Amino acid sequence: MPAAERTRAQALMALTQQFDAAGVDTAAEDARLLLRAACGLSRLDLATEPDALLTGAEEDRLSSYAAQRTQHEPVSRILGERGFWTLDLVVAPDVLDPRADTETLIETALRLCRDTPPTTILDLGSGSGAIVCALLSEWPQAHGVAVDLSPHACRATMQNLRRCNLSDRAMVMRGRWSEALGAGRFDLIVSNPPYIATGDLAGLDPDVRLYDPALALDGGADGLGAYRAIIGDLTRLATPGALALFEVGAGQAGDVAALLAAAGLTPAGVVRDLGGHERVVAARHGLAGPTGA
Ligand SMILES: C[S@@+](CC[C@H](N)C(=O)[O-])C[C@H]1O[C@@H](n2cnc3c(N)ncnc32)[C@H](O)[C@@H]1O
Repeated sequence: MPAAERTRAQALMALTQQFDAAGVDTAAEDARLLLRAACGLSRLDLATEPDALLTGAEEDRLSSYAAQRTQHEPVSRILGERGFWTLDLVVAPDVLDPRADTETLIETALRLCRDTPPTTILDLGSGSGAIVCALLSEWPQAHGVAVDLSPHACRATMQNLRRCNLSDRAMVMRGRWSEALGAGRFDLIVSNPPYIATGDLAGLDPDVRLYDPALALDGGADGLGAYRAIIGDLTRLATPGALALFEVGAGQAGDVAALLAAAGLTPAGVVRDLGGHERVVAARHGLAGPTGA
Protein backbone atom coordinates (compact mmCIF):
# COMPACT_ATOMS: atom_id res chain seq x y z
CA MET A 1 0.00 0.00 0.00
CA PRO A 2 1.48 3.39 -0.94
CA ALA A 3 2.44 5.63 2.00
CA ALA A 4 -0.02 8.42 2.79
CA GLU A 5 0.79 11.68 1.05
CA ARG A 6 2.25 14.42 3.25
CA THR A 7 2.31 18.16 3.00
CA ARG A 8 5.62 20.04 3.20
CA ALA A 9 4.70 21.26 6.69
CA GLN A 10 3.98 17.72 7.89
CA ALA A 11 7.21 16.41 6.39
CA LEU A 12 9.15 19.24 8.04
CA MET A 13 7.69 18.51 11.47
CA ALA A 14 8.32 14.76 11.18
CA LEU A 15 11.90 15.28 10.02
CA THR A 16 12.65 17.72 12.82
CA GLN A 17 11.37 15.21 15.38
CA GLN A 18 13.40 12.43 13.76
CA PHE A 19 16.60 14.53 13.94
CA ASP A 20 15.87 15.60 17.53
CA ALA A 21 15.49 11.97 18.53
CA ALA A 22 18.80 11.13 16.81
CA GLY A 23 20.61 13.84 18.83
CA VAL A 24 21.18 16.25 15.94
CA ASP A 25 21.84 19.68 17.58
CA THR A 26 20.49 21.74 14.69
CA ALA A 27 17.43 19.56 14.02
CA ALA A 28 14.95 22.23 12.83
CA GLU A 29 17.46 24.09 10.66
CA ASP A 30 18.79 20.90 9.06
CA ALA A 31 15.28 19.54 8.43
CA ARG A 32 14.36 22.75 6.64
CA LEU A 33 17.51 22.72 4.48
CA LEU A 34 17.11 19.07 3.50
CA LEU A 35 13.39 19.40 2.76
CA ARG A 36 14.12 22.40 0.54
CA ALA A 37 16.88 20.48 -1.26
CA ALA A 38 14.77 17.33 -1.68
CA CYS A 39 11.90 19.35 -3.20
CA GLY A 40 13.99 22.00 -5.01
CA LEU A 41 12.38 24.81 -3.00
CA SER A 42 13.53 28.32 -2.24
CA ARG A 43 13.11 29.65 1.29
CA LEU A 44 10.09 31.60 0.01
CA ASP A 45 8.49 28.52 -1.65
CA LEU A 46 8.54 26.67 1.65
CA ALA A 47 7.17 29.62 3.61
CA THR A 48 4.37 30.45 1.17
CA GLU A 49 3.26 26.94 0.13
CA PRO A 50 3.51 24.75 3.23
CA ASP A 51 0.42 22.74 2.25
CA ALA A 52 1.70 21.50 -1.12
CA LEU A 53 2.04 17.70 -1.22
CA LEU A 54 5.40 15.96 -1.67
CA THR A 55 5.74 13.84 -4.82
CA GLY A 56 7.00 10.26 -4.64
CA ALA A 57 10.43 11.30 -5.94
CA GLU A 58 10.68 14.07 -3.34
CA GLU A 59 9.76 11.62 -0.56
CA ASP A 60 12.45 9.20 -1.79
CA ARG A 61 15.12 11.89 -1.82
CA LEU A 62 14.08 13.16 1.59
CA SER A 63 14.14 9.70 3.10
CA SER A 64 17.67 9.10 1.79
CA TYR A 65 18.84 12.50 3.14
CA ALA A 66 17.20 11.76 6.50
CA ALA A 67 18.99 8.42 6.78
CA GLN A 68 22.33 10.12 6.11
CA ARG A 69 21.72 12.94 8.62
CA THR A 70 20.64 10.57 11.39
CA GLN A 71 24.03 8.88 10.87
CA HIS A 72 25.48 12.36 11.68
CA GLU A 73 26.58 13.14 8.13
CA PRO A 74 26.63 16.99 7.96
CA VAL A 75 24.12 18.68 5.66
CA SER A 76 26.90 20.21 3.56
CA ARG A 77 28.32 16.74 2.86
CA ILE A 78 24.88 15.30 2.03
CA LEU A 79 24.24 18.12 -0.44
CA GLY A 80 27.88 18.28 -1.62
CA GLU A 81 28.23 22.03 -1.26
CA ARG A 82 28.31 24.87 1.22
CA GLY A 83 28.47 28.64 1.24
CA PHE A 84 31.77 30.13 2.40
CA TRP A 85 32.32 33.88 2.38
CA THR A 86 30.54 34.97 -0.83
CA LEU A 87 31.19 31.68 -2.64
CA ASP A 88 29.39 28.37 -3.16
CA LEU A 89 31.98 25.64 -2.73
CA VAL A 90 31.99 21.93 -3.44
CA VAL A 91 32.38 19.85 -0.29
CA ALA A 92 34.28 16.71 -1.30
CA PRO A 93 34.61 13.40 0.58
CA ASP A 94 37.92 13.06 2.50
CA VAL A 95 38.35 16.84 2.60
CA LEU A 96 37.59 19.13 5.56
CA ASP A 97 34.17 20.74 5.35
CA PRO A 98 35.07 24.46 5.61
CA ARG A 99 33.68 26.17 8.71
CA ALA A 100 32.03 29.56 9.14
CA ASP A 101 34.60 30.39 11.88
CA THR A 102 37.32 30.38 9.21
CA GLU A 103 35.69 33.47 7.69
CA THR A 104 37.30 35.34 10.63
CA LEU A 105 40.62 34.77 8.89
CA ILE A 106 39.27 36.25 5.65
CA GLU A 107 37.87 39.33 7.46
CA THR A 108 41.20 39.82 9.27
CA ALA A 109 43.17 39.57 6.03
CA LEU A 110 40.94 42.14 4.33
CA ARG A 111 41.19 44.54 7.27
CA LEU A 112 44.95 44.28 7.76
CA CYS A 113 45.71 44.47 4.03
CA ARG A 114 43.23 47.30 3.28
CA ASP A 115 45.95 49.84 2.49
CA THR A 116 48.35 47.45 0.77
CA PRO A 117 46.52 44.53 -0.86
CA PRO A 118 48.78 41.49 -1.39
CA THR A 119 49.83 40.42 -4.85
CA THR A 120 51.10 36.99 -3.77
CA ILE A 121 49.24 34.70 -1.37
CA LEU A 122 50.28 31.34 0.07
CA ASP A 123 47.68 29.01 1.64
CA LEU A 124 49.28 26.11 3.52
CA GLY A 125 46.87 23.17 3.99
CA SER A 126 44.29 24.42 1.51
CA GLY A 127 41.72 21.60 1.94
CA SER A 128 38.65 22.56 -0.11
CA GLY A 129 40.42 25.75 -1.17
CA ALA A 130 38.00 27.85 0.87
CA ILE A 131 40.60 30.34 2.08
CA VAL A 132 42.56 30.80 -1.13
CA CYS A 133 39.34 31.08 -3.18
CA ALA A 134 37.85 33.70 -0.83
CA LEU A 135 41.04 35.78 -0.79
CA LEU A 136 41.58 35.65 -4.56
CA SER A 137 37.94 36.57 -5.11
CA GLU A 138 38.48 39.75 -3.06
CA TRP A 139 41.77 40.81 -4.68
CA PRO A 140 41.56 40.51 -8.47
CA GLN A 141 45.21 41.48 -8.89
CA ALA A 142 46.52 38.75 -6.58
CA HIS A 143 48.00 35.33 -7.44
CA GLY A 144 47.95 32.39 -5.06
CA VAL A 145 49.76 29.16 -4.31
CA ALA A 146 47.85 26.47 -2.41
CA VAL A 147 49.61 23.49 -0.83
CA ASP A 148 48.14 20.35 0.69
CA LEU A 149 49.51 16.90 1.47
CA SER A 150 46.21 15.19 0.69
CA PRO A 151 45.57 14.39 -2.99
CA HIS A 152 41.82 14.64 -2.27
CA ALA A 153 42.32 18.15 -0.92
CA CYS A 154 44.47 19.19 -3.89
CA ARG A 155 41.73 17.99 -6.25
CA ALA A 156 39.05 19.81 -4.23
CA THR A 157 41.09 23.03 -4.20
CA MET A 158 41.46 22.85 -7.99
CA GLN A 159 37.77 22.07 -8.42
CA ASN A 160 36.71 25.05 -6.31
CA LEU A 161 39.18 27.40 -7.99
CA ARG A 162 37.66 26.39 -11.34
CA ARG A 163 34.12 26.76 -9.98
CA CYS A 164 34.95 30.30 -8.81
CA ASN A 165 36.74 31.20 -12.09
CA LEU A 166 40.02 31.70 -10.25
CA SER A 167 42.18 28.91 -11.75
CA ASP A 168 44.18 31.27 -13.93
CA ARG A 169 45.51 33.04 -10.82
CA ALA A 170 46.37 30.05 -8.67
CA MET A 171 48.69 27.07 -8.55
CA VAL A 172 47.99 23.98 -6.45
CA MET A 173 50.89 21.89 -5.18
CA ARG A 174 50.85 18.60 -3.34
CA GLY A 175 53.47 18.56 -0.59
CA ARG A 176 54.36 18.72 3.07
CA TRP A 177 53.75 22.34 4.11
CA SER A 178 56.38 24.58 2.47
CA GLU A 179 58.92 21.82 1.72
CA ALA A 180 58.25 21.82 -2.02
CA LEU A 181 58.26 25.62 -2.38
CA GLY A 182 61.25 27.21 -4.10
CA ALA A 183 62.56 30.75 -3.87
CA GLY A 184 59.23 32.59 -4.35
CA ARG A 185 58.07 34.91 -1.59
CA PHE A 186 54.58 35.89 -0.52
CA ASP A 187 52.93 39.07 0.80
CA LEU A 188 50.26 37.13 2.65
CA ILE A 189 50.75 33.66 4.17
CA VAL A 190 47.68 31.96 5.64
CA SER A 191 47.01 28.62 7.22
CA ASN A 192 44.26 26.79 9.04
CA PRO A 193 46.32 23.72 9.95
CA PRO A 194 45.19 20.63 11.87
CA TYR A 195 45.12 21.70 15.53
CA ILE A 196 43.29 19.08 17.60
CA ALA A 197 45.52 17.24 20.07
CA THR A 198 45.67 13.56 19.09
CA GLY A 199 44.23 12.48 22.43
CA ASP A 200 41.15 14.66 21.91
CA LEU A 201 40.17 13.24 18.50
CA ALA A 202 38.10 10.37 19.91
CA GLY A 203 35.94 12.83 21.88
CA LEU A 204 34.96 14.99 18.90
CA ASP A 205 31.32 15.21 17.80
CA PRO A 206 30.39 12.39 15.42
CA ASP A 207 29.63 14.95 12.67
CA VAL A 208 33.35 15.81 12.73
CA ARG A 209 35.00 12.57 13.85
CA LEU A 210 33.21 10.36 11.32
CA TYR A 211 33.34 12.67 8.30
CA ASP A 212 36.33 15.05 8.41
CA PRO A 213 39.65 13.35 7.55
CA ALA A 214 42.12 12.77 10.41
CA LEU A 215 44.87 14.47 8.38
CA ALA A 216 42.87 17.70 8.57
CA LEU A 217 42.30 17.46 12.33
CA ASP A 218 45.26 15.79 14.05
CA GLY A 219 47.72 18.38 15.33
CA GLY A 220 49.93 15.89 17.17
CA ALA A 221 50.42 15.31 20.90
CA ASP A 222 49.75 18.92 21.99
CA GLY A 223 47.87 20.11 18.89
CA LEU A 224 50.69 22.48 17.91
CA GLY A 225 52.77 20.17 15.69
CA ALA A 226 51.68 21.73 12.38
CA TYR A 227 52.28 25.30 13.64
CA ARG A 228 55.85 24.40 14.62
CA ALA A 229 56.52 22.83 11.22
CA ILE A 230 55.06 25.75 9.26
CA ILE A 231 56.35 28.66 11.35
CA GLY A 232 59.94 27.37 11.29
CA ASP A 233 60.10 28.15 7.55
CA LEU A 234 58.02 31.35 7.44
CA THR A 235 60.75 33.99 7.18
CA ARG A 236 62.18 32.22 4.10
CA LEU A 237 58.78 32.53 2.39
CA ALA A 238 57.71 36.03 3.43
CA THR A 239 58.36 39.32 1.65
CA PRO A 240 59.46 42.21 3.93
CA GLY A 241 56.33 43.42 5.73
CA ALA A 242 54.37 40.28 4.80
CA LEU A 243 51.40 39.34 6.91
CA ALA A 244 51.00 35.82 8.34
CA LEU A 245 47.59 34.67 9.62
CA PHE A 246 46.89 31.42 11.42
CA GLU A 247 43.57 30.01 12.52
CA VAL A 248 43.90 28.51 16.02
CA GLY A 249 41.89 26.25 18.29
CA ALA A 250 40.77 26.88 21.87
CA GLY A 251 43.58 28.05 24.14
CA GLN A 252 46.25 28.02 21.40
CA ALA A 253 46.56 31.72 20.52
CA GLY A 254 49.27 32.48 23.09
CA ASP A 255 51.38 29.47 22.12
CA VAL A 256 51.12 30.24 18.40
CA ALA A 257 51.96 33.93 18.96
CA ALA A 258 55.02 32.81 20.97
CA LEU A 259 56.11 30.45 18.16
CA LEU A 260 55.79 33.32 15.66
CA ALA A 261 57.79 35.70 17.87
CA ALA A 262 60.50 33.06 18.42
CA ALA A 263 60.76 32.69 14.62
CA GLY A 264 61.47 36.42 14.30
CA LEU A 265 58.03 37.69 13.29
CA THR A 266 56.34 40.64 14.96
CA PRO A 267 53.08 39.76 16.69
CA ALA A 268 50.17 41.74 15.18
CA GLY A 269 47.30 40.67 17.40
CA VAL A 270 44.72 37.99 18.06
CA VAL A 271 41.22 38.20 16.56
CA ARG A 272 38.09 36.62 18.05
CA ASP A 273 35.37 34.92 16.01
CA LEU A 274 31.67 35.73 16.25
CA GLY A 275 31.35 33.33 19.19
CA GLY A 276 33.98 35.34 21.11
CA HIS A 277 36.70 32.66 20.83
CA GLU A 278 40.28 33.58 19.96
CA ARG A 279 40.41 32.36 16.38
CA VAL A 280 43.14 34.07 14.35
CA VAL A 281 46.72 34.98 15.25
CA ALA A 282 48.42 37.64 13.11
CA ALA A 283 52.10 38.49 12.70
CA ARG A 284 54.28 40.56 10.39
CA HIS A 285 57.61 39.75 8.86
CA GLY A 286 59.64 42.82 9.73
CA LEU A 287 58.01 46.04 10.79
CA ALA A 288 56.81 47.50 7.47
CA GLY A 289 53.06 48.14 7.28
CA PRO A 290 50.41 48.40 10.02
CA THR A 291 50.71 45.74 12.71
CA GLY A 292 47.63 45.95 14.91
CA ALA A 293 44.83 43.40 14.44
C1 LIG B 1 42.02 22.11 9.13
S1 LIG B 1 42.23 21.64 7.45
C2 LIG B 1 42.00 23.23 6.66
C3 LIG B 1 41.46 23.16 5.26
C4 LIG B 1 41.07 24.52 4.67
N1 LIG B 1 42.21 25.41 4.61
C5 LIG B 1 39.95 25.18 5.47
O1 LIG B 1 40.24 26.13 6.21
O2 LIG B 1 38.78 24.75 5.36
C6 LIG B 1 43.98 21.38 7.37
C7 LIG B 1 44.51 20.95 6.02
O3 LIG B 1 45.93 20.72 6.16
C8 LIG B 1 46.29 19.60 5.37
N2 LIG B 1 47.54 19.03 5.89
C9 LIG B 1 47.73 18.26 6.98
N3 LIG B 1 49.03 17.97 7.14
C10 LIG B 1 49.69 18.57 6.12
C11 LIG B 1 51.06 18.67 5.74
N4 LIG B 1 52.03 18.06 6.44
N5 LIG B 1 51.38 19.40 4.65
C12 LIG B 1 50.41 20.03 3.92
N6 LIG B 1 49.10 19.97 4.23
C13 LIG B 1 48.74 19.26 5.31
C14 LIG B 1 45.10 18.66 5.48
O4 LIG B 1 45.07 17.74 4.42
C15 LIG B 1 43.93 19.64 5.48
O5 LIG B 1 43.44 19.84 4.17
